[in-house]
Amino acid sequence: MLQERVPDFAKFVEPDRVRREVYTDPQIFDHEMQRVHERVWIYCGHESQVPRAGDYYTVQIGRQPMLMVRGKDGKIHVLYNRCPHRGNMMCGDRHGNAGEFFRCSYHAWTFQHDGRLRSIPMMESGYAGTRFGRGNPDCDMKKAARVESYRGFVFASLAQEGPGLLEFLGASKVAFDDMCDRAPEGEVEIVPNCFRVIQHSNWKIFLENQLDALHPSVVHQSTGRAAMEVEKQIRKKTGQAPLSYHMLSAFAEVTIEKWDGFQTLNYPYGHCILTGYMGLRPKDPDTLAYEKVMQKAYGKKRMEEIFGVNIHHVLIYPGLSVQSPLQQLRAVRPLGVDQTLTEIWHFRLKGAPEAIYRRSLAYYNLVNSPATLINADDLENFWKVHQGLASDGGDWVSFGRHYGRDIEKDGVVETGANMGTSEAPMRNQMKAWARYMKD
Ligand code: FES
Ligand SMILES: [Fe+2]
Repeated sequence: MLQERVPDFAKFVEPDRVRREVYTDPQIFDHEMQRVHERVWIYCGHESQVPRAGDYYTVQIGRQPMLMVRGKDGKIHVLYNRCPHRGNMMCGDRHGNAGEFFRCSYHAWTFQHDGRLRSIPMMESGYAGTRFGRGNPDCDMKKAARVESYRGFVFASLAQEGPGLLEFLGASKVAFDDMCDRAPEGEVEIVPNCFRVIQHSNWKIFLENQLDALHPSVVHQSTGRAAMEVEKQIRKKTGQAPLSYHMLSAFAEVTIEKWDGFQTLNYPYGHCILTGYMGLRPKDPDTLAYEKVMQKAYGKKRMEEIFGVNIHHVLIYPGLSVQSPLQQLRAVRPLGVDQTLTEIWHFRLKGAPEAIYRRSLAYYNLVNSPATLINADDLENFWKVHQGLASDGGDWVSFGRHYGRDIEKDGVVETGANMGTSEAPMRNQMKAWARYMKD
C-alpha cells in the first residue's frame, strides 16, 4: 500500500525533458525536501554574521527552522530552532545575541550555545525520578547532523551519511576561493543585511534561470537598452559615464551570439560553473588603486592569476548561486511547492579600497533591489512559468537546447564550442535531482 503512494520519480525525468508535476505537485515537494534539501549540504551563512559568542542567525534548511550560533569557544553550531520541552521555537527573532545561554520564552528551560541542556526551573523537585533532566540527550536542543565551513562559508547537512563538504563542493568550491582571493587579506566579510524576495514559483525555476545564458539578452534587453541610452548621453556631456551604467548596458551589449561564446561545466552533484565573466577590470583610478593593494599582498604573478579566474556564476545545487567576481550570492529557501524565498547577500573584500566595495554594492542594488527592473523582469517570468506549468496546456518542460552535443569527460559535462546557451545546466540539475530522489 505504502509503495503505491510513493511516486516512481524515474518516470518524471527524461534526459532532455521533465514532467510538469515536478514543479507543481505538493507531494513531490515534500519528497524532495526530505531527500534533497534535508540531506545534502545547505549554505547556512557566513561566519562573520555571528562574530561574538551567543550571536545567532536563524536559517531555513528544507522545511526545518534552524539557527546558526557562535559558542563561547568560538565554534559555530547549527541547531534546530526548537525547544525540547514542548516544542517552542527558541529564537523568534531573525537574528540577535542569546547572551550567556539560550532561554526558552515559554517555561524558561535554558541551554548552552551548543544546545546542551543547562537548567530546568526547579529541576530536582519537578523531574527527580523521571526520564527528564541533564544528561538525557532528549532534553538537549537537537543539532544538525553535520556542520562544516569552507573559507568562512558555513554549511550544514541534516543527514549523518553522505560526502563531506569538500567532496560535495568539488570544483564548485572555486566560488569561495575566487571571492576570497580577490580580497587583499584573503577573506571576505558579510554586509549584515540582505534582500529577501519571496517568489510565487517553484524553487527549481529560480535555479534553472541562474545559468540560463539565453535569457539575459531577451528578458533584460529593455533595461540594458535604456541604460545604454543614458550612458551615451552622460558620456557625450561629461566625457565619461559611471561604471554602474555599464553594468546595466552590458545586458544589451552581450548578445545571444556572445553568450554562446561562454561555456558551462556541469558536475555530478548538480553543480555548475558558467564561465565568460563580463570584464569589469577597467583602467579607472579606483581599479588601479585596488590592483596596487592586491599586487602588494600577492605579488604580480599571483594577482594576475586571481584576476584571470574566468567565472560568471557558480551554482551549488540545490540551494546556492554565487557570483564571486561581484561578491554576491543568492541562497534559495523553498517555502512551499509554489513559494520560494531567496536571500541575496553581498560581501566586502577585506583590505580592498572602499571604492571597490561601493562598486559591488552598486551592482548588488542594480540587479537585486526592489527598485530594479532586472530582478523584477526575472520574477515576472518565474511566476508566469509556474502558472503555465500548473495548467493543463502541456505535460513536459523542455531542456532540449543543444541536447546530444554535450562533451562528457570524467563525469563532467562540458558544453561544446559556441553552445554557451545550451540547456545542459538544467539537464544536469534534473539528473542530480532524479538521483537524489531515487536513493
Ligand atoms: S517549551 Fe521551552 S521551556 Fe517549555
Ligand atoms: Fe535574469
